[in-house]
Amino acid sequence: MIYPIVKYGAAVLEQGAQLVTEFDDRLRQLVADMFETMYAASGVGLAAPQIGISLQLAVIDVTVGKDPNAKLVLVNPQIIHRQGRQKEEEGCLSLPGFHADVVRPERVTIRALDAAGREYTQTGEELLARALCHEIDHLHGTLFIQHLSALKRDLIRRRIRKRARAGDW
Ligand code: NI
Repeated sequence: MIYPIVKYGAAVLEQGAQLVTEFDDRLRQLVADMFETMYAASGVGLAAPQIGISLQLAVIDVTVGKDPNAKLVLVNPQIIHRQGRQKEEEGCLSLPGFHADVVRPERVTIRALDAAGREYTQTGEELLARALCHEIDHLHGTLFIQHLSALKRDLIRRRIRKRARAGDW
């Protein structure tokens, strides 16, 4: 099933998410639904808080469905190594219409569990490094606009408030 995506302003997006402790059919169904929701929105990553579920769970596919081997399920993930620096434009399904340059590590290694509860490590560079950082941020209640200057962040917030007043958010 495709979930509605929660937009900026919802409290769940700015809270730390709970650790996943049950690796059951419900979790597997949730993971399948999150991929379906992400692909329907043409996203490269989706975190559970973005569908209103405060769990440390995210899915990533930087090929947007082109390569089945590129699908990543991150349960209770942690970044264990960061290297280098990249600055590229970033967006978020919870902030539709807003993009900004965000500085991220060029290369990161994460440790996480998969949907069956098996631990793995994954190293990503460039877009994958960015997606890993962005999604793991979501699980700690951090959105990409928190990485911008206060000036740029306030500008985006003002534009969102304006859109909300117009019923367009
Ligand atoms: Ni996002």
